[in-house]
Amino acid sequence: KILILDFGAQYTQLIARRIREFGVYCEIWAWDHDPAEIAKYAPKGIILSGGPESTVEAGSPRAPQEVFDAGVPILGICYGMQTMAMQLGGRVEAGHHREFGYAEVEVVAECGLLDDLKDHAGSPPRLDVWMSHGDRVTAIPPGFQVTARTGAVPIIAMGDDARRWYGVQFHPEVTHTKSGEQMLRRFAVDICGCDTLWTAANIIEDQIERVRAQIGEGNVLLGLSGGVDSSVVAALLHKAIGPRLTCVFVDTGLLRWQEGDQVMAMFAEHMGVKVIRVNAADRYFAALKGVDEPEAKRKIIGRLFVEIFDEEAAKLDNIQWLAQGTIYPDVIESAGSKTGKAHVIKSHHNVGGLPEHMKLGLVEPLRELFKDEVRRIGVELGLPREMVYRHPFPGPGLGVRILGEVKPEYAELLAQADAIFIDELRKSGWYDKTSQAFAVFLPVKSVGVVGDARAYEWVIALRAVETVDFMTAHWAHLPYELLDDCSRRIINELRGVSRVVYDISGKPPATIEWE
Ligand code: XMP
Repeated sequence: KILILDFGAQYTQLIARRIREFGVYCEIWAWDHDPAEIAKYAPKGIILSGGPESTVEAGSPRAPQEVFDAGVPILGICYGMQTMAMQLGGRVEAGHHREFGYAEVEVVAECGLLDDLKDHAGSPPRLDVWMSHGDRVTAIPPGFQVTARTGAVPIIAMGDDARRWYGVQFHPEVTHTKSGEQMLRRFAVDICGCDTLWTAANIIEDQIERVRAQIGEGNVLLGLSGGVDSSVVAALLHKAIGPRLTCVFVDTGLLRWQEGDQVMAMFAEHMGVKVIRVNAADRYFAALKGVDEPEAKRKIIGRLFVEIFDEEAAKLDNIQWLAQGTIYPDVIESAGSKTGKAHVIKSHHNVGGLPEHMKLGLVEPLRELFKDEVRRIGVELGLPREMVYRHPFPGPGLGVRILGEVKPEYAELLAQADAIFIDELRKSGWYDKTSQAFAVFLPVKSVGVVGDARAYEWVIALRAVETVDFMTAHWAHLPYELLDDCSRRIINELRGVSRVVYDISGKPPATIEWE
């Protein structure tokens, strides 16, 4: 296993994902994590990540001495290389201009990390890399040699093959660095000697063993939402403990078209998981009656979920554990915080109101996994690909996609319009090219001619976005023909819709959801 010390770069999680992709387990710790833990963790190699700060500034973060005392290979990336240079007796200078983006580097010396890597023919070998830095190393520490340069920057990589310590100024973890994956693999597998056993099948086997050891003879309760994380937890726990798992699935009436039946068909009928379905649509619509403010709606929907979940839990006896779909990004300590991130309980699953006598322990079998790993083990566990690779769906569901007051007839129309849109996206191959796509119900009436008659009916808006992190997003440039098919089908097949519009707002300034 590899330990990644995080100095706060936006790319740190990518380093971990790349390394895990080729089967090596790694963890991300904040740079100021208790250094005494490093020896106990006994990593086979340590990576120092990039970071937003400048090593030449007083008080900027440093790697703890324990890193250099561990006797294992080290790879410093960007800030990580600079702090290595500073701490080991080299020199760093603040850059006069930032280097950002694509660059071609020349490999100028033999080096265990870079040997035989070559993106361009010729001698010296040249590599296409991605840079993002302001400062630069101007003198390497004793024992190192310069291993790569660019036309403008004489020291872009350094290495000490004797100690197996390396530094690169560029980012091997981003896909723009062509041989980046090979470089990380070279480091983790060849240089550090890590096994490549972190595969979906092994993760499952390992988690099953751990869950069994953790819960002993106990019984587990899980809130199943139909989303990817809770579905994968259900499949995994079912495999681990069979009938000792009980799931509660709350049908809010605000789910995707026929989702309630699909969840039951999949888990209860097909897989034989014990699922209690609570049909609570009437309760949700009653609670939401007359409420049109988005945050008020969110609160009501969240509170009701907790209430219903608690009621169901109270009916069960002999439950000792509560399972949650917490995943690694929720857990990773953020660099720069002394305390690390507090143990996160997903608000949707926040069952803090559970009855007094139910003091439940937490089971979180996805705690170490990135989303892409969760998906891979989901497929390996036999969940359908369409389910595992589904677009995200907000906790409050259609409740925030019906603008203003939520009514059952609006939810019905919206769920159907959404299903038509998604169906067309899947048929045309656009579903996987968009990150999230859905229909929105606008409670305004517009005039149209449907058939031969004048219609005065509701408006459906379609939204499709492309995004990596959901923090910013572009609207998807769907083909006109596809939009045309969606619009025709929605108006023809649904009674009560006379107009369909497409949302062409980016985020920012617009959010992805309309409420
Ligand atoms: P916005 O609308 O803020 O959405 O651009 C970003 C992402 O978050 C999802 N979202 C939610 N998810 N509860 C959730 O579980 C919510 O209240 C909520 N609001 C937005 C949204 O679907 C998008 O993926």
